[in-house]
Amino acid sequence: MTVLVIGATGKTGRAVVEALVARGAKVAAGSRTPGTEAADAAVRPVRFDWADRASWAPALDGVDGLYIVGPTGEPVGEVLVGELLADPVAAGLRRVVLLSVLGADRLPPEVMMADWERDVRASGKDWTILRPNWFHQNFGGGFAAGIREQGVLELPAADAALSFVDTRDVAEVAAVALTEDGHAGQVYDITGPQSLTYAEALKTISAASGRELAFRPISHEQAAENLRTAGVGERAIIWQRGLYDLMLEGTNAPVTDVVERVTGGAARSLDAYAAENADVWR
Ligand SMILES: NC(=O)c1ccc[n+]([C@@H]2O[C@H](COP(=O)([O-])OP(=O)(O)OC[C@H]3O[C@@H](n4cnc5c(N)ncnc54)[C@H](OP(=O)(O)O)[C@@H]3O)[C@@H](O)[C@H]2O)c1
Repeated sequence: MTVLVIGATGKTGRAVVEALVARGAKVAAGSRTPGTEAADAAVRPVRFDWADRASWAPALDGVDGLYIVGPTGEPVGEVLVGELLADPVAAGLRRVVLLSVLGADRLPPEVMMADWERDVRASGKDWTILRPNWFHQNFGGGFAAGIREQGVLELPAADAALSFVDTRDVAEVAAVALTEDGHAGQVYDITGPQSLTYAEALKTISAASGRELAFRPISHEQAAENLRTAGVGERAIIWQRGLYDLMLEGTNAPVTDVVERVTGGAARSLDAYAAENADVWR
């Protein structure tokens, strides 16, 4: 089995590469700027750019499985997943796993995941759709600088609860679905083991890092203004609003057993992630 992992440098993609190698698969690790050397002989760095169709065929050469991190940054991102899967370069693909998001079918039309899900379902491949909750890794990624520098995380999340999930668990589910039968046609809501508010999550990170950190709820308007100041486009701002609306309705609170059911292992906790990464917030 050889799998092209799109977004192989990202929060889930990196872990998907590792999980596939651990399961004995060969991997084409896709990035817009691939290095020349891979950490493992089973991994071949390849150039893949949603915005450059000439990169698609060489990246898919000899590949029979595909892990899709979709093109959120492209001006026509909603059509590209369907176009790739319908392209002759994808003819050799047998299994396809799409990274979507929890509640994808109830997000505003500006959000592309529902389009991607529709096209994956229509692809004629053995498809599996992953709908994970918000990642632990956001605390050590996009949220980290604000937490470290101001001691505060500001989001329009009020006291909504989320069963945050570790991207390594998302990756394990992806790797099983890409290498074993029995997962075609499945839509997996992937969560961590417990439901926490952002205030509770910040307490967990405070305890691990030994710093007094706080969650500060903000309005949707303030959040949109913060994103605009950071240079985020209007479409992505509507998208973010849609995600927070779902969260405030309680969509992200339930805990599922998908990680344990599919991988046989327990889902990782935020406590464990915070303990492993405590230096990030110091
Ligand atoms: N963050 C969360 O909590 C969360 C939760 C659920 C679902 N999701 C979904 O996960 C997806 C990824 O989000 P993320 O924040 O976790 O990002 P990420 O995977 O950490 O980073 C994005 C990845 O996409 C690659 N990429 C960017 N533009 C590309 C292009 N034009 N062509 C090919 N590859 C490109 C980047 O690789 P290079 O720069 O190396 O090209 C990078 O590896 C999104 O669809 C999001 O909705 C996220």
